[in-house]
Amino acid sequence: MTGNITFTMIKPAAVAEGHLGPIINMISEKGFRITALKMLQLTRNDAEKFYEIHKERPFYHDLVDFMSSGPIVAAVLEKENAVEDYRKLIGATDPSKAEDGTIRKLFANSVQKNAVHGSDSDENANIEADFFFSRRERF
Ligand code: RTP
Ligand code: MG
Repeated sequence: MTGNITFTMIKPAAVAEGHLGPIINMISEKGFRITALKMLQLTRNDAEKFYEIHKERPFYHDLVDFMSSGPIVAAVLEKENAVEDYRKLIGATDPSKAEDGTIRKLFANSVQKNAVHGSDSDENANIEADFFFSRRERF
């Protein structure tokens, strides 16, 4: 059975460049319901924990630096088949390979500054949503 939530972050560069509104609009227009939302700046420790799965990768240190460099917007999105449909909407990790009309094609600067995060499984969507939001922040 496919899950009905995914977790997203609008990454620091996309927030700093003023793309928050257009990205939220694309999410809404695709039929996702926003069930939790906040702006915050990750500490290095938060970013290290969130990306722990990548800790042996060569880009890990730079990714942690970038993700803790300025405010991000975190959200939980609800929709049937949320994880897969959201990854379709955001496009490939490398924006030069992302399809036209995807969030990364429109708003990403590079593989690292690729505008948004999207969960890669139902299990991770739940773990990531719990990492950012308490029960009283979920609707
Ligand atoms: P995300 O987790 O942010 O939704 O991205 P993703 O699944 O498409 O990509 P993933 O493999 O999980 O990588 C996480 C983030 O690490 C950065 N990255 N940099 N320099 C590089 O080669 C490289 N590769 C990945 C990206 O910011 C990517 O979104
Ligand atoms: Mg990923």
